[in-house]
Amino acid sequence: MSTPNAASDTPPPVNGHRAPLLELNNVTRTFTNSNRTTTALDNVSLTIHTGQSLGIVGESGAGKSTILKLLMGLDSPTTGDVRFHGTTLNRRNRQQMVQFRRAVQIVFQDPRSSLDPRMTVDRIVTEPLTSLKVPGNHRDRVREVLTSVGLEESALTKYPAQFSGGQRQRIAIARALAPAPSVLVADEPVSALDVSVRSQIVDLLADLTSRLGVTLVMVSHDIAIVGQLCARTAVLRAGRIEEEGDTLQVLTEPTAQYTRDLINAVPQMRSGGEEH
Ligand SMILES: Nc1ncnc2c1ncn2[C@@H]1O[C@H](COP(=O)(O)OP(=O)(O)OP(=O)(O)O)[C@@H](O)[C@H]1O
Ligand SMILES: [Mg+2]
Repeated sequence: MSTPNAASDTPPPVNGHRAPLLELNNVTRTFTNSNRTTTALDNVSLTIHTGQSLGIVGESGAGKSTILKLLMGLDSPTTGDVRFHGTTLNRRNRQQMVQFRRAVQIVFQDPRSSLDPRMTVDRIVTEPLTSLKVPGNHRDRVREVLTSVGLEESALTKYPAQFSGGQRQRIAIARALAPAPSVLVADEPVSALDVSVRSQIVDLLADLTSRLGVTLVMVSHDIAIVGQLCARTAVLRAGRIEEEGDTLQVLTEPTAQYTRDLINAVPQMRSGGEEH
């Protein structure tokens, strides 16, 4: 690739230890609306290392999306901190924020609402390069990422409505990849797609993480997809980490009854886990 690849901005190790890519340290996030306080996250600590994709699972309202927002810097913890390469995120540190915004990109759930219907694919994919002032030749970079998500160059002059749902999600992934991020954050990246194209997008994400070295942080209610894409899994229950570890271990030998119940709720996982 002509543009710096994922993780190229990684600072050198300090005393032989490389700081994690992203961390939540003792994070609590509460929301207060008209005298009612909701604790979305209660003292959550999570560590994301380069190359170790993380899947986050848990029931509705468990706090999964809240974790993703914090990891993207779109929300701030009530207490605790979010660290990027070992340094607490600080919006006043402009240089750090520029590096962070390029490094952490998002793929939304539904490409119908996340892609502006009035913009051509060319403009959609170029936009983050412009707004994040990414150095290098933007024209070449846009073509490069379009190829890496399996779209033809002829897509550039078209509009989102001219594509299928799966192709639109490829466009959204191309946009996220354009600034050569080290992390792709995705909240249910395939659940809005037709069942028939889900596996193609899962395969694409698997290919991108292995080929480009992008680390995925993904929320999915589909535990089989987490098994396919994520080396590590965190199980969230009512704002707390119920268990966390190697995905295979968590899915095949869960320690918590809550995790067993989540797995048992997925029909294909009950019959012995042949989905992975
Ligand atoms: N902006 C907000 N204001 C008030 N409460 C909020 C806000 N955002 C989240 N919450 C609450 O925090 C809790 C966790 O929400 P979150 O969206 O993180 O859950 P989730 O695990 O993503 O659920 P789902 O699977 O339904 O998407 C919920 O009780 C939710 O109502
Ligand atoms: Mg959510």
